[in-house]
Parts: sequence; structure tokens; C-alpha cells
Amino acid sequence: MTKKLPRVILRELQLDDVEARYQWCLDKEVTKHLNMPDKYPPFSKDETRKWMEMCINKTNGYDQKAILDQDNNHIGWIDLKNFDNLNKHAELGIAIGDKNYWGKGFGLAAMLEMLKYGFNELNLNKIWLRVEIDNEKAIKSYKRIGYVEEGILRQDRLRNGKFVDRLRMSILKNEFLQITQKLKKS
Ligand SMILES: CC(C)(COP(=O)(O)OP(=O)(O)OC[C@H]1O[C@@H](n2cnc3c(N)ncnc32)[C@H](O)[C@@H]1OP(=O)(O)O)[C@@H](O)C(=O)NCCC(=O)NCCS
Repeated sequence: MTKKLPRVILRELQLDDVEARYQWCLDKEVTKHLNMPDKYPPFSKDETRKWMEMCINKTNGYDQKAILDQDNNHIGWIDLKNFDNLNKHAELGIAIGDKNYWGKGFGLAAMLEMLKYGFNELNLNKIWLRVEIDNEKAIKSYKRIGYVEEGILRQDRLRNGKFVDRLRMSILKNEFLQITQKLKKS
């Protein structure tokens, strides 16, 4: 990562975020690789609100945050979930919902912030993720951050009636510390 990353802010979700989330989830390009029903709707705006309320009240096991650019524009969401407190790991998920922000380093910047939070504040040892094997753009981003491949999860998602493999990747706390030290020096 030689180019300077854009600044992003991760803030707690709020109910004002529902409208944007609902609109982004109607966009098939945004949701193609997300683990959600193929048709969106069936979720109504009201169901989106209920889901986000659960995230806000932390009743669904998700620690989900809104991604903002440096001018406080809301551009997407990022989360940690599937917490294994015994073994100190959790799964990361991300979507830049506003496609105008794709391919400009915002995903990378948001992930770095979330990894910092997960490792330093939640004291996790590993942050892993599952990515569909044909989501090349996302895999490229994860590799750029320093995620390494753990293996293929065969036929792990039923997408549009077809099973697709997912790649499991992870980054460890000590690897992340090395990466952030390198970034500070560059
Ligand atoms: C996957 C996703 C999060 C990646 O986010 P992104 O902001 O588009 O991607 P990145 O932050 O990695 O940006 C990297 C790209 O920006 C370019 N870039 C521009 N400025 C940059 C900078 N300052 N630093 C680094 N990269 C920069 C890079 O060259 C790279 O372009 P390339 O892919 O053409 O080589 C986003 O595409 C997305 O939300 N997709 C839909 C949902 C999804 O699939 N989520 C993942 C499910 S597992």
C-alpha cells in the first residue's frame, strides 16, 4: 500500500442510516457477494430498520459500524460477528454501499480501522472472513491488507440456486502489528 489511504471514520450505527442501507441493498452489484437472500426485498424498509435496531442494541451478535468519509458522508458498513471469546477470534464483513467510492482505497481504510478496533480494543487474536471465490475485487483488497488464505470452504453459499465455494482468509494480531508499523514508516 504505497498510496496514502483516504481518511475514514467508523461510527456507531444510527436509525438515520436505514434509508441508505435499504437503497444500497436494492443494488444487485453491491449485494451479489453478500450473504443475504438473493432477492432484496423480501426485506422491507421496516425489516431493514428492525435488523439495524438489533445491531444498535447489540442483540444479534453483530458489532456493526457505519463507514464515513472525512466529510462525514455515509458510504457503507463494516462489522465483526461470530465472536469466539474463548479462542479470541471473530469474522469480519464489509460493504461500501455507495459505488462512487469503490476502487479508491476506502474499503482498505475502513478495514484497517476495524482491525485496529478488533485487535486493540476487543483484544482479538485473529480476524477471519469468508469471501466468494469469484469476488476477485474483494480478495485483492484482503490480500493487499495482509490477509492470508486458510482454505476453501466447498459449496459454502447457495447463490441464485447454485452453490459457490468460499475462501476463508484471516489475519493475526501479530501480523497486523507488523503491517501497521510498516505503514507508519512509509
Ligand atoms: C470489496 C469492497 C469492500 C472493496 O472496497 P473498495 O473501496 O472498492 O476497494 P479498496 O479499498 O481495496 O480499493 C483498492 C482499489 O483502489 C485503488 N486505490 C485508489 N486509491 C488508493 C489508495 N490511496 N490506497 C490504496 N488503493 C487505492 C487501488 O489501486 C485499487 O484499485 P484496483 O482494484 O483497480 O487495483 C467493495 O468493492 C464492496 O463493498 N463490494 C461489494 C460488497 C462486497 O463484495 N463485500 C465483500 C464481501 S466478502
